[in-house]
Amino acid sequence: LQNQPDLRARQIEAGDRLTGLSLGHQDFLPLKIFLQRHAKTYHLKNLARTYAIFEVSRVIAYITLVCGEIVLEGDASLQDEPDLHYDYKSYPALKIARLAVDARHREKDYGEFLVGLAVGTAKEIICPAAGCRFVAVDSKRSALGFYLKQGFTLLDTPENKKRSEPVLFIDLFKAAKSN
Ligand SMILES: CC(C)(COP(=O)(O)OP(=O)(O)OC[C@H]1O[C@@H](n2cnc3c(N)ncnc32)[C@H](O)[C@@H]1OP(=O)(O)O)[C@@H](O)C(=O)NCCC(=O)NCCS
Repeated sequence: LQNQPDLRARQIEAGDRLTGLSLGHQDFLPLKIFLQRHAKTYHLKNLARTYAIFEVSRVIAYITLVCGEIVLEGDASLQDEPDLHYDYKSYPALKIARLAVDARHREKDYGEFLVGLAVGTAKEIICPAAGCRFVAVDSKRSALGFYLKQGFTLLDTPENKKRSEPVLFIDLFKAAKSN
């Protein structure tokens, strides 16, 4: 958002007007309705935190984050460290619960910026305070290519590949090591 003085990214607040987001296809209507009707209450009640990019006072993109987990089926494993003893079928993860960019503002890296905000928040704020190894998302099929470009990996299980919204993840431990 550098060099764009009209744009500001921040958490939503009680006084914000969160209407007017135009998402194009009707499949995305729930994302618009969530922002209009529920995001503020969830935010205030600590059920989900929403961050938005505002053009002056109008929202043009948002991301909603929640605490979550990646649950594995069968023998699948998420990490490739043979020496690591981890007995559980679920891994702690920060979840991207919602992500949407106004159709008139796509392909301007706003989606990338918001995913970066999620990963940065996980690494800098959540990981030092609580176990959280991954950032995860249940991706719409139309957005798979977008998340792969952001460095996410598709969870490699037959069940996941069949899901209408497959799980993808970023390993924050690996991301931290390579930085
Ligand atoms: C998916 C979405 C969030 C992407 O937002 P965006 O701001 O347009 O994406 P960006 O401009 O940050 O794109 C970053 C890169 O991903 C690519 N990209 C964007 N959308 C893509 C898609 N659907 N498939 C494949 N690649 C995509 C861009 O071309 C860009 O590539 P580059 O780095 O090579 O230039 C947006 O299209 C959207 O809101 N879609 C509708 C709702 C939705 O699907 N949300 C995700 C819910 S899981």
